Amino acid sequence: MKMAPGRKIDRFMLKDGREVVARLPRKGDERKMMRYINELAEEKAYISVEKKKTIKDEKKFLRELLAGMKSGKKTAFVFESGGRIIAMADSCKGACDKDGHVCKLALGVLKDFRGAGLGNLIMRMLIDASRKKLKCRVARLSVYAPNKPATSLYRKHGFRVAGRIPKGIRHCGEYIDEMIMVKEI
Ligand SMILES: CC(C)(COP(=O)(O)OP(=O)(O)OC[C@H]1O[C@@H](n2cnc3c(N)ncnc32)[C@H](O)[C@@H]1OP(=O)(O)O)[C@@H](O)C(=O)NCCC(=O)NCCS
Repeated sequence: MKMAPGRKIDRFMLKDGREVVARLPRKGDERKMMRYINELAEEKAYISVEKKKTIKDEKKFLRELLAGMKSGKKTAFVFESGGRIIAMADSCKGACDKDGHVCKLALGVLKDFRGAGLGNLIMRMLIDASRKKLKCRVARLSVYAPNKPATSLYRKHGFRVAGRIPKGIRHCGEYIDEMIMVKEI
């Protein structure tokens, strides 16, 4: 699937009948992205962001994301419903010559939109784009041990636990284990 930056690429119907548009991120998305990430941070979701982001943070994040996409090191999608970004996902290639075939995946869906099939859709899109656009052969994920929905989603898509870092994450002041999950793609 060839996609120009920012062009709407597809419309999907969730299990509950709501429509979601999937597209590439584009300049001008920073405010919507900030609302999205801050909603997850406020929920204390099991993601790497804990402190709320400012518009300046988000402008920098988006600038780096778009630059990474342009240079073929990253691929990303945003998912919109009712004019809001309600999910995001990205894949990033290893930076060295020797791990350029390995990509790291990250994704999140806002609470109101969970359990309706979006996670499954995102995983299929991310794996496909990591293989075809980034030319990666191995995908890896970092997941926090108590995050059962994410662990279950990743297992469903063929990821296996490659290692566990005891107390590898400090989440809201509490040390929890980090699991590294991998899949050949
Ligand atoms: C993990 C996450 C992306 C799943 O997204 P989702 O849209 O709810 O997923 P889906 O509805 O497509 O469900 C896909 C699979 O995920 C798993 N899953 C989803 N919700 C689950 C739950 N409450 N309990 C256990 N497994 C669950 C199941 O394996 C499910 O398979 P099924 O379709 O056969 O039921 C979502 O919960 C999320 O964004 N959480 C907050 C942020 C986060 O944890 N990101 C991942 C960081 S590693």
